[in-house]
Amino acid sequence: MSKLWGGRFTKPTNKLVEEYTSSIGFDQKLALQDIKGSLAHVEMLGHCGIITDEEKNQIIKGLHTIQGKIENGEVEYSVADEDIHMNIEKLLIEEIGPVGGKLHTGRSRNDQVATDMHLYMREKTEELIELVGAVQEALVTQAEGNVDTILPGYTHLQRAQPISFGHHLLAYFWMFERDKERLQDSLKRINWSPLGAAALAGTPYDIDRQMTADILGFEKVYPNSLDAVSDRDFILEFLSISSILITHISRLSEELILWSSQEFNFIELDDEFCTGSSIMPQKKNPDVPELLRGKTGRIYGNLMGLLTLLKGLPLAYNKDMQEDKEGMFDTVDTLEGALSLLAPMLASMEVKKGEMKTAVKEDYSNATDIADYLAVKGMPFRQAHEVIGKIVLYAIEEGKYLLDLSIGEYQQFSELFEEDIYEKLAPEQVVAARNSEGGTGFKQVANQLELAKSHLYE
Ligand code: ARG
Repeated sequence: MSKLWGGRFTKPTNKLVEEYTSSIGFDQKLALQDIKGSLAHVEMLGHCGIITDEEKNQIIKGLHTIQGKIENGEVEYSVADEDIHMNIEKLLIEEIGPVGGKLHTGRSRNDQVATDMHLYMREKTEELIELVGAVQEALVTQAEGNVDTILPGYTHLQRAQPISFGHHLLAYFWMFERDKERLQDSLKRINWSPLGAAALAGTPYDIDRQMTADILGFEKVYPNSLDAVSDRDFILEFLSISSILITHISRLSEELILWSSQEFNFIELDDEFCTGSSIMPQKKNPDVPELLRGKTGRIYGNLMGLLTLLKGLPLAYNKDMQEDKEGMFDTVDTLEGALSLLAPMLASMEVKKGEMKTAVKEDYSNATDIADYLAVKGMPFRQAHEVIGKIVLYAIEEGKYLLDLSIGEYQQFSELFEEDIYEKLAPEQVVAARNSEGGTGFKQVANQLELAKSHLYE
């Protein structure tokens, strides 16, 4: 059988052109969505009397047969048939004869491909929401076991103030919560039906777009046929959301890498998630978080690629748009892989509570609290800050930490110091004191944890 569009041509397509313009190599991922869209379309054609019931039933049966073959891996796609849409149509005609050619009545590949991608994006978005939820669950579980685990909190990667490790983990929980919300919100726009927009202008057949939208579970139909076939915002939006999501994954990965280094020594990743060095036998490399961090580049790249692709395109369909797919597939696959690994890696990581605590004792991260101590006793905070700066300098010169200075030494800097300073400086106290809403104080973290849990399975 020759090309489905061969009538107007007198020469066969150049072989190189055939290969260059074909998308079957990648859009075969849309096979099941394509059949789903076709089933809805043919149902509607029958219902509207555009084809007979007999024809409708034959086509539906044929499509089901092809679906079975695809699912069993029995189908061989052909580059000569260009893309998934024409491959399936060709298979249908082979299966049920010329009546298969009626399937394409009142539609075009332009609304067809858009429909397929909306269906694909919806499925994958829902799946990704679940996977983000699993990462959040792992964070909550670890946070729950580490509300009272204290470690240095950092700004500028310099020790700043001690914090609860549960608090630190929950910070990521909320980032992922927003990612989940963004994915959920995007479903509103993914759930528009382009089907029936045809090539660009609609169709003279008396079709029922609402019916196909209902069958496919779309919430509304695109009100404009040109927009319906040209819109790729829903993919851009997905790639943007994905870029933000992978940014969060990457930042968390960076921390896991730092924390598992000998320099920090705060966590140990499970052996299952690390690999060794072929030359240095002592090494245990955090390959998984490194790759998660590294994968960020391709996801940003996919976003940039599609933005660039679309920016100068006139309405309506242009073949350039065939290039919208690989970046989308790649982003979906990359995120599925990343999230599926991140959840169990977080769940199985060992938290070195003792090391974290030791780190807090061996720094000056309680300095703010001495300033607050003097401020509460009446000294203006600015002045107190100056005094403590001098104390820290003195302590460093003496090779001591703030808890090691004697009360006599403190009193050389201010008469306001009394014995209760030691209690105030204990790391547990320093953390507990930050009980303002959303702070790292243990009570606040416990409240936050409850709130986080309530978001887990909504
Ligand atoms: N394979 C094409 C794509 O992915 C399908 C739409 C083709 N439409 C056309 N008029 N050539 O964009």
